[in-house]
Amino acid sequence: MIQSSHIGYHCISCGEFSPADPFLYTCEKCDSNLDATYDYDKIKKGWSRKYLSGNRDRSIWRYLPLLPVAQNPEDTSIQVGGTPLVSQARLAQELGIQDLWLKDDTRNPSGSLKDRATEVGIQHAKELGYKIIAAASTGNAAASLACLSATHKMEAVIFAPSSAPPAKLTQILQYGAHLFPVNGSYDDAFDLSMDVVKATGWYLRSTGINPILSEGKKTVALEIAEQLNWEVPDQIFVPVGDGCIIGGVYKGFYDLHQLGWIDRLPKIVAVQAEGSSAIVNALKSGKIKPVNAETVADSISVDLPRDGQKAIRAVKESHGYGLKMTDGEILAAQHYLAKTTGLFAEPAAAAAFAGLIKSTNENKINSDETAAVLITGTGLKDINAAQQIVNIPSPILPDLDSFKNVWSRSHS
Ligand SMILES: Cc1ncc(COP(=O)(O)O)c(C=O)c1O
Ligand SMILES: [Zn+2]
Repeated sequence: MIQSSHIGYHCISCGEFSPADPFLYTCEKCDSNLDATYDYDKIKKGWSRKYLSGNRDRSIWRYLPLLPVAQNPEDTSIQVGGTPLVSQARLAQELGIQDLWLKDDTRNPSGSLKDRATEVGIQHAKELGYKIIAAASTGNAAASLACLSATHKMEAVIFAPSSAPPAKLTQILQYGAHLFPVNGSYDDAFDLSMDVVKATGWYLRSTGINPILSEGKKTVALEIAEQLNWEVPDQIFVPVGDGCIIGGVYKGFYDLHQLGWIDRLPKIVAVQAEGSSAIVNALKSGKIKPVNAETVADSISVDLPRDGQKAIRAVKESHGYGLKMTDGEILAAQHYLAKTTGLFAEPAAAAAFAGLIKSTNENKINSDETAAVLITGTGLKDINAAQQIVNIPSPILPDLDSFKNVWSRSHS
C-alpha cells in the first residue's frame, strides 16, 4: 500500500496553495482556513477498494493514503473509528423513508466522534516534534485530547467553559490532562487558546482552524461509504457547531468521488439548534454573522463558527440544506432515539436525529430515499440535560406491597 498522498493545502477562500512543510494553520495570504490536498492519481495507482477490503485494521488508520500524516501511530492499543453503522429498518418504516443507518460514534474511546480528529492531530503534532498540545473545546474535543494524549504520551492543556457538563470536565481530569475551566463562553476559551499557543509555541488542537482536524473527521464518511459497500445514502444528517465535522464529512465523500470509488455525494444536511444557528442563517443570508448562542445542546453552542466556510461548502456542493431545531425537539428526539434504538445520544447528537424527523415531516426527504444520521457523542456525558424530560421516580419501601401500589397506579 502507498503511504499518504498528501501534498499540501489550498485556501478555502482565495485558493492559494501552501506546502505541507512548514505547517501553517491558516492561509498566509488571507488568513482563511486551509483544506488538505491529495495526489489522487498517486492513490489510484497504489491503492484500491479491493486492497482496502483485505486490510484487517478496523481503525481510521486503514485510510492512511487519504490522511495528512506520514505514518500510522506507534501505539495502537486503543482503536479510534471502525464504529458500527446500525441499520434501523423498523424505524425507517415508522418515519416513512426507504432505509436508515445510525453511525454510532459514541463507541469511540472517549465517547465522541472528536477522537477521529484528535488521533490524526496527535500523530501530526508528533511528526512535527511537538510534546504539548493545547485545545479550546465545548468539552468533547478536550475529553478526546486528554484521552488520546494519555495513550500516545503527549501532554494536553485544555481550556473549556466552566459551564461545560461536569462529566466532561471530570473525564478530562481522569485522563491526567491540565484543565483550565474558563470563566466565559466557548468563544472566550477559543480566543484564549490562540493567545496561549502564540505565547508558548505549543501545537493547537482547537477545532475550526487546524486543517488536520477535519481530515480526521472525514474518516466517518469513508467508513460509512465502505460499510455500505460504496453505495452512499441519499441524505446524511450532521449536527453542526463550528462546522468542522460537516466540513470533514463533505471532504471524505469528495475524496472518494475523486477516486471514482462512489458515483455521487449524499445530500449533506446541516442541523443546528435554533439558539445557535449562525451557519444555517448564513445558508440563506450568504454571510456568517455571530449569534448569542444558547441551547441545551452544549456541544453545538457556538457564537461564531470557526469552520463556517467549509460547512457552507459542504451543504451547497452536495445540494443539501440546513435545519434549526428547538431545544424541546432535541430533547424529545434524544428520548425517542434511546427508546426505539437503544442508542443514548447527547443533545448535540440527538439534534441530527431531530433533523431527520423534521425532514420527514416537511417532506424534505422522500419515501424512496435513504438516510444516515451521525450519532456524534454519548448521552452519558450530560445527564442534567437528559433529565429534563425523564424524572427519576420517588423511592419505594423495599416491600412487595409498595411495589404493587406504584405498579398498579402507573398501569391502571
Ligand atoms: C457530540 C458533538 N456533536 C457535534 C459537534 C459539532 O461539531 P463541529 O463543531 O465540528 O460542527 C460537536 C462539537 O463539539 C460534538 O461534540
Ligand atoms: Zn487565502
